[in-house]
Amino acid sequence: MRLALIGAGRIGKVHAASIDAHPDVTLVAVADAISEAAEALAAPRGAQALSVDEIFDDASIDAVLIASSTSTHIDYLQRAAAAGKAILCEKPIALDLEASKAAAEAVTHAGGLCALAFNRRHDPQCAALKAALVDGRIGKLETLTFTSRDPAPPPMDYLKGSGGIFRDMMIHDFDMARWLLDEPIVSVHASGSCLVDPAIAEAGDVDTAVVVLTTTSGCLCSISVSRRAVFGHDQRIEAFGSLGMLQTQNETDTRLKVVGEQGQVEEAPQWFFLERYAKAYRQELDDFYQSWREGRAPRAGLNDGVEALRLAEAASRSLELGRVVYLEEL
Ligand SMILES: NC(=O)c1ccc[n+]([C@@H]2O[C@H](COP(=O)([O-])OP(=O)(O)OC[C@H]3O[C@@H](n4cnc5c(N)ncnc54)[C@H](O)[C@@H]3O)[C@@H](O)[C@H]2O)c1
Repeated sequence: MRLALIGAGRIGKVHAASIDAHPDVTLVAVADAISEAAEALAAPRGAQALSVDEIFDDASIDAVLIASSTSTHIDYLQRAAAAGKAILCEKPIALDLEASKAAAEAVTHAGGLCALAFNRRHDPQCAALKAALVDGRIGKLETLTFTSRDPAPPPMDYLKGSGGIFRDMMIHDFDMARWLLDEPIVSVHASGSCLVDPAIAEAGDVDTAVVVLTTTSGCLCSISVSRRAVFGHDQRIEAFGSLGMLQTQNETDTRLKVVGEQGQVEEAPQWFFLERYAKAYRQELDDFYQSWREGRAPRAGLNDGVEALRLAEAASRSLELGRVVYLEEL
């Protein structure tokens, strides 16, 4: 696969490293609004720094990975689809639900492969939990609990354009909830506070939130997020069912536990998503490549992006109105 990367920022660099490690995917071009950033990623890899127009016009490029700022995704998705490229696009599709739905319909109509980068579905622990659920290892799922905490809030400039904690951060948990619950969600109830930084409240957002999702069969899913965890990236899932329980754990660098007379010490969790999900990003790229090669659907597609955003929208509305929001209202 001859692949072009659009966006050479924080996540673009992670994807470039995954491409380096993949035996069948070659990075041929990089585009970024800042040409020096594109050049810095492209040159050491023997790739070209091109404009997005040049990428879409180049028939020898099979696929594009859209990792530029969220506000660019819809335009690039539509242009890449029209140019017949296979697409892997970062989440979210956009911050607006109606615009995302329209873009997803247009891209789907074009008929090519389009995967959405919900990386957690590719994490080995999360994928093993999903497989155990599907295998019936815990019987009927009754409650699903997500703990999802970032080590520290992002810069205020980023936060102001992020669309808020539900669209920016909890969107990953909404996607994982949909994937693991595997039945329709009927309602969303959100509560939120600003406990970490008053500047976040001034920007109209919350930094701490809990959401409860209820499915058609009455399964309850709670998601607890915070923009600050002093010990690192706190990412745990617990699935509880009629026959038992499944849990994923935080990752540490070596998993070494030291036990002495005073007690036992374990390493702190890995600091942030770049380390915690390093394997997931590689698996995500491989799933995209295998989908393209085999002509099958990717693990996460555009519709998943729309549906996760619908949950984020419902959570925002629930917080604003102070009541349960039913998905049929949206
Ligand atoms: N899946 C994940 O774990 C994950 C993690 C971080 C970010 N993201 C998503 O990835 C996207 C990028 O986030 P980031 O943290 O890398 O941001 P970033 O600001 O570090 O990088 C964005 C890059 O896009 C470039 N850019 C802006 N406008 C452009 C345009 N019109 N054409 C080409 N390039 C343009 C910028 O110059 C910058 O280099 C966002 O949509 C974000 O939500 C996903």
